[in-house]
Amino acid sequence: VAEPDLAGRHVVVSAGGTREPLDPVRFLGNRSSGKQGYALARTAAARGARVTLIAANSALPDPAGVDVVPVGTAVQLREAVLKASADADAVVMAAAVADFRPAAYAAGKIKKKDDQEPEPIALVRNPDILAEISAGRARPGQVIVGFAAETDDVLANGRAKLKRKGCDLLVVNEVGERKTFGSEENEAVVLGADGQETAVPYGPKEALAETVWDLVTERLR
Ligand code: PMT
Repeated sequence: VAEPDLAGRHVVVSAGGTREPLDPVRFLGNRSSGKQGYALARTAAARGARVTLIAANSALPDPAGVDVVPVGTAVQLREAVLKASADADAVVMAAAVADFRPAAYAAGKIKKKDDQEPEPIALVRNPDILAEISAGRARPGQVIVGFAAETDDVLANGRAKLKRKGCDLLVVNEVGERKTFGSEENEAVVLGADGQETAVPYGPKEALAETVWDLVTERLR
């Protein structure tokens, strides 16, 4: 039985991957299954927290005892995170958020024209939710945790991302077509804004989640 060290706390976790629609049929998306974020939500609930899980396009069942807010796009995810984090002690952004979305949405299915070259897809920037909530904390002492999904120069990119985003903790994990996305296991280094670095060996996503909550509770005291 987990120690209820998050009792009386409200934590917000985002999970899954955003989908940015091009037309009623297609979207730009990513390979996140939601498993890492759901493991964070489950473990926080087991440790006594009130948990709001902002779930982007995950097929996983709702964890017991967790408030689940389903979202589709990055803009919807931002709205839900801002709303839920107003009274939160900690926010963990495990969702894979699209940095860009199609500049235009076609109300009808985009048609293939036989005698024409394909049109390039114009993109616009999505809001950076993690940077925004880190810069303007909804409560003093609110602990903000980001994830960094990297394919190369994993640690160097993670350290630079921690500075750029301004969060308290950044969980750096390596990803690939079949790495981390959708799997039951993960392996990471958790970087602290205070310079602390915690390596979490390859193991169940729950184990990484527990380490994240250990580091969060240290910072909530
Ligand atoms: O869902 P699984 O299949 O279990 O896979 C888990 C995971 C690989 C998705 C997860 O462990 C992970 O790494 N999540 C973060 C993915 C991501 O978007 O990383 P990033 O390096 O592109 O973004 C850095 C951070 O900024 C993330 O916390 C992200 O939520 C946040 N972000 C990114 C872009 C944006 N516009 N707004 C954001 O808030």
